[in-house]
Amino acid sequence: MQDARRMQSQSCTVDGTMMGSLYAAGDRRSGRMCGIIGCVGDENVTHVLLQGLKRVEYRGYDSAGIATIDANSMNVRKGAGRLAEIEERCALSSLRGNIGVAHTRWATHGGVTDANSHPHTSCQERVAVVHNGIIENYVQLKKQLLGRGHLFKSETDTEVISHLIEQEYARVKNPLKATMLAAKKLRGQYAIAVLFQDRPDVIVGARKDAPMIIGVGDGKMFIASDVLAFIEHTDRTIFLDNLEFAELTKDRVRIFNSEGKQVRRKPTQVAWELSDLTKSDYAHYTRKEIDEQPRTVASATMQDQEALAAFARAIKGAKSLFITAAGTSYHAGLLMKSRLNKEAKIRCDAVLAGEFAEHLDWLGRGSTVVVFSQSGETADVLDAVKEAKKKGAKILSIVNAAGSSLARESDVTLLLNCGPEVGVAATKSFTSQVMVVNLVVDSVLGKRKANDLSRFSRAVEETLETEPQIAELADEYKEKPDFYFVARGYNYPVALEGALKLKELSYIHAEGMPASELKHGTLALIEKGTPVVAINPSGPLHDETLSNVEELKARGADVIGISDVHDQVYKHFVRVPKVDWERMPVVEVIPLQLLAYHVAVARRNDPDYPRNLAKSVTVK
Ligand code: AGP
Repeated sequence: MQDARRMQSQSCTVDGTMMGSLYAAGDRRSGRMCGIIGCVGDENVTHVLLQGLKRVEYRGYDSAGIATIDANSMNVRKGAGRLAEIEERCALSSLRGNIGVAHTRWATHGGVTDANSHPHTSCQERVAVVHNGIIENYVQLKKQLLGRGHLFKSETDTEVISHLIEQEYARVKNPLKATMLAAKKLRGQYAIAVLFQDRPDVIVGARKDAPMIIGVGDGKMFIASDVLAFIEHTDRTIFLDNLEFAELTKDRVRIFNSEGKQVRRKPTQVAWELSDLTKSDYAHYTRKEIDEQPRTVASATMQDQEALAAFARAIKGAKSLFITAAGTSYHAGLLMKSRLNKEAKIRCDAVLAGEFAEHLDWLGRGSTVVVFSQSGETADVLDAVKEAKKKGAKILSIVNAAGSSLARESDVTLLLNCGPEVGVAATKSFTSQVMVVNLVVDSVLGKRKANDLSRFSRAVEETLETEPQIAELADEYKEKPDFYFVARGYNYPVALEGALKLKELSYIHAEGMPASELKHGTLALIEKGTPVVAINPSGPLHDETLSNVEELKARGADVIGISDVHDQVYKHFVRVPKVDWERMPVVEVIPLQLLAYHVAVARRNDPDYPRNLAKSVTVK
């Protein structure tokens, strides 16, 4: 199967043995939430690909690789590990070529090995593919391809795509057609970018249920899973719709639907600045984004008034109302539920996106679903939206990424306006979500808030000044095996958020719960020195929470009080400024973000790229 043309494939430690059998150890379907960047231009694109990979590394960071075509030779270099390490080990920057695709991986199934890292090539290495998503029928396809003599080098599902395209290309000799024909055989979810050795002028892309964006440059075209990958080169973007294909050459991009019909698409401009993307002089994006909050809480209130009014109208007019989201976004959803139920007397259910299917029987025409998502690409959330729309429900979304799949699936969208959030742990996006929640509920109530944003931003700045105290607490409790976060009523979601931040950044077991629940079990876990954070602002529930704190102290807990009013029952007291009650979650959560950050740093974890996680969870 070898041909005359020079092939240069370098997996830094893989021996390239061909795997005959269908199943090798650890060979399972490999779902992925990865970062993809491709570029074709009139000069060497390696630095563009490398910089792009660094920008999307937060999407997955267990292996990476690049394929370029130079002098009709396909050059593939890839390996397992963090990008910086692979860049050095595989000398990625010495690759050459005016065209290339690159990938950073987040493995859900299948080993983190050099062989499993992308790009994946076909038998003759004439086709190279990078892929984000899951090919659900890959086992059957692999069986057929093995039966036809194809030789596999990895354990991934992705590799079947390169062999399928190779097969079709041998027949139709047209990159776009070959990719379309191969895609017809794929079941599951994919965003792919494909290189063809004998066509060093064209990249073909395709998407189904995974995000893919085109960047329209001058003399250069980009394809990526995220605007951030090419934002420093162009802000003119085309978001591929589902089941669309793209054919990129250096001067032109053509979009085709699944029938192969060309569709005209005008580029849209994205409002994100390069400055948003650098760490500037911060050690970590997460720390920088925490510091941005005095500004971002204000920009969150810059909403399109018509959209806000339409949002409130749809909530008021809903026959049944649901709120859905995942992770931190779900905690913001709980705050909306609490205010709508209590103040607007509007009954609504807040449901985790991954559990939404359990509630579908209660949706129908006239139902409205409010969806929170920073990335707008979370698979559980997009799935819930798909099912809700099938039921005839209206979709209202609050997102950070304007062009995201969720924004494009929604009837009305409000943007967080907090700029790109690179740190995997959501920080500024949460406080911006809280601000948008308050805007929406106030609009439902017909309330217009006095414009005291500068005073509120100062209160947020003041809260950031708790950092030295928080850093000391982080150092004192960094080795603790368990942490508990308690609060009552409207502040309970802040306890959940505090626990989530600590878990994902420090890897310490942490639990957030209503303080009222302690007596019903968790109190049994409390012993001398157990750290418990009590979020307890002044207000109607303050004293009840204090009595729960007494119970904790009586069992030996070290209670860290987060409040605007001091009490001697706390072992440690972190004062936060008194602001309007509905905005208290913003000033309460910032010390918790700082705690998680400093415990992570004290434990030598990388706060920006926590293990086993990724910023945008694009698989179910
Ligand atoms: C939060 O810090 C985590 N990154 C995660 O729980 C996140 O909130 C969740 O995956 C939802 O993401 P989304 O807001 O982009 O949909």
